[in-house]
Amino acid sequence: MKIEEKYELVLKAYQNAYAKYSLFQVGALVILKNGQYYLGSNIENASYGLTNCAERSALFATYSNGYRKNDIAELVLIGKSQNYLYPCGACRQVICELMEKDATITLFKLNKEYKVIKVSELLPNLFDERELNAN
Ligand code: THU
Repeated sequence: MKIEEKYELVLKAYQNAYAKYSLFQVGALVILKNGQYYLGSNIENASYGLTNCAERSALFATYSNGYRKNDIAELVLIGKSQNYLYPCGACRQVICELMEKDATITLFKLNKEYKVIKVSELLPNLFDERELNAN
């Protein structure tokens, strides 16, 4: 998928955000290796703690439709940030579980500038299933 198309799609997810309390919109896009994709937006709630971040919305939609980590090529993210918007701590944990470590994450600013990072950069000393199986 061309970078221009990634931007247009993730911007759509950003515009779909239900962020009436924080007014901070975030858009995410999961691109599959087969070219399909899923959008995700942050979805807030009057009971604030029930808010779902855009990254988790997109990844949960992907898994809910039957896809798994080996089907995912990339996560794309956009938000209004002075610098680039990185995933929050909770989303980093979820991303590390649901995406391959060498998969890419493209971070867009609203002005279309972008940078590309790897899932493996997100979370040092990760807690994952290996710990559960250690004993
Ligand atoms: N938010 C995301 O959707 N993703 C992040 O990685 C950071 C935070 C949302 C949650 C909440 O709706 C709003 O941004 C403000 O925290």
